[in-house]
Amino acid sequence: MLDKHAFLERNASALLVGTFLMVTVGGIVEIAPLFWLENTIENVEGVRPYSPLELAGREIYIREGCYVCHSQMIRPMRDEVERYGHYSLAAESKYDHPFQWGSKRTGPDLARVGGRYSDEWHVDHLYDPQTVVPESVMPKYDFLARADIGPDYIEELLETQRLVGVPYTDEMIASARADFVAQADPMGDWDGLLERYPGAQTRNFDGQGALTEMDALIAYLQMLGTLVDFSTFEAADAR
Ligand code: HEC
Repeated sequence: MLDKHAFLERNASALLVGTFLMVTVGGIVEIAPLFWLENTIENVEGVRPYSPLELAGREIYIREGCYVCHSQMIRPMRDEVERYGHYSLAAESKYDHPFQWGSKRTGPDLARVGGRYSDEWHVDHLYDPQTVVPESVMPKYDFLARADIGPDYIEELLETQRLVGVPYTDEMIASARADFVAQADPMGDWDGLLERYPGAQTRNFDGQGALTEMDALIAYLQMLGTLVDFSTFEAADAR
């Protein structure tokens, strides 16, 4: 056996062919399973597509470049888990197009920021971060509270997300406009919305009359990391 190996060592071409064969086999074994994505992304109870208002808030988050300073991926290391909560699951970002894992943390990770602060805190903080955290280097986003927002392109937005694989149904798209407005309306009719988007939070998020980009952004921030119930979640169950 060992002298057969000597043949490869003395013939550069044969060694090259042999190496190529080995790498090909190894590559197929590693990469091929990923083509059957259902096997690699676990299904976790509670994870659902974003409601229209949350999705609009996410668009604002991306437009304003919040991801430049904030990540949304808690790594499974002790210091991270103690600070931010349960490590992020792949399933939690499976409807993120594009994903918001981030590559830099100037500010804290936001993957589980939902419910950590009150809406008022977020309004104050977005208006002027330094009034809440004096040493903060985060810019002011007070203009969001003056930017009225409507459901003008919300159907198209949902349709685009569906195009890249988010399972929005025809019914969700047909009700997108109504759901968009209802979620931030304290007097709204939420039954349909809550059926389509279980666990969606409904209220006036920025505390002022008009429906603004601030409402949408806070609706998005307050749902981050709240979909999976980690008091009952067990990694082994995730299939
Ligand atoms: C220049 C970098 C930078 C940008 C851009 C930025 N932030 Fe921040 N953010 C920070 C820093 C630093 C902190 C920590 C100090 C503080 O709370 O203000 C922070 C804190 C936060 C917190 C509180 C997190 C916690 O767990 O305490 C939230 C929520 C937040 N930012 C949201 C946003 C949103 C939404 C945007 C985009 C509209 C944004 N940030 C843009 C730097 C940034």
